[in-house]
Amino acid sequence: MNLRIFRHIADLRAELDALRAQGKRIACVPTMGNLHEGHLQLIHLARKNADIVVATIFVNRLQFGLNEDWDQYPRTFDSDCQKLDAARCDYLFFPDETEMYPNGMEGQTRVLAPTMTDILCGASRPGHFEGVTTVVTKLFHIVEPDVAIFGLKDYQQLAIVKRMATDLCMGVEIIGAPIARDKDGLALSSRNAYITEDERPKANQLHQSLSNAKQKIEQGERDFRAIEESAKAEIEAAGFRLDYFSVCNAETLDPAVDDDKELAILGALFTSAARLIDNLTLNLK
Ligand code: PAJ
Repeated sequence: MNLRIFRHIADLRAELDALRAQGKRIACVPTMGNLHEGHLQLIHLARKNADIVVATIFVNRLQFGLNEDWDQYPRTFDSDCQKLDAARCDYLFFPDETEMYPNGMEGQTRVLAPTMTDILCGASRPGHFEGVTTVVTKLFHIVEPDVAIFGLKDYQQLAIVKRMATDLCMGVEIIGAPIARDKDGLALSSRNAYITEDERPKANQLHQSLSNAKQKIEQGERDFRAIEESAKAEIEAAGFRLDYFSVCNAETLDPAVDDDKELAILGALFTSAARLIDNLTLNLK
């Protein structure tokens, strides 16, 4: 195995400082593990954009709500290492909670992004994005990457991280990677493990409804709120509870208005045990 695993910040820093001194360009790919093809695509994109690829695995309790799945979140360290090694990832940072939160989580200094964090996913997961921006900032301080790769699957997360990086003058370039999907369109996710066998044949409904909405807009329909309503009806007819379905301005994530050119359609639904998210973008220029 060529992959080198570090559990401690000081050791990783010493290793990466030496590489930086040799002029190596470093990419960081933050994850919570239970890696699938979507994560590995990020590693491939990182390889193309840097000399050294550092993946991180940390199931960050700070971004989970009290009634969410932090304790059940799948932890598959050995197979994750094998996948990272096969994808030619150079380093894995795999800290424990005391390494990441040495003063405990209660009084942890937080990074708060005031825009885009309390809508869409943020509305149903209060505090979630504050946990994300805080941990991503910490990871950036530890790895000091030239470039960091995030998936478009979590479109809102990517938009918030990009905004945070410019707001805080972080010298890191943020690159978005395309969404990896199953054959039927379902976006790959660690949480797909919670979909039951009965639900699985219809679990691509969110992607279907996003595609339908995109097609309507491409055909000239501009009543975005009506498009959202019919997506809601489709998703409920397939037996799922909708969290949100929203045609947005791709940059601000505000509800789209008539003359917006770059749009993102974002949706989230609940299966019996999972909350699935997905999105599509379109450019009307
Ligand atoms: P996690 O859900 O493990 O995702 C890690 C990265 O993989 C994220 O950038 C996510 O957008 C990307 N990803 C997941 N599924 C994908 C898919 N089907 N196609 C493309 N990219 C995909 O997102 C997190 O972890 C955490 O919030 C984290 C950023 C690590 C902070 O804790």
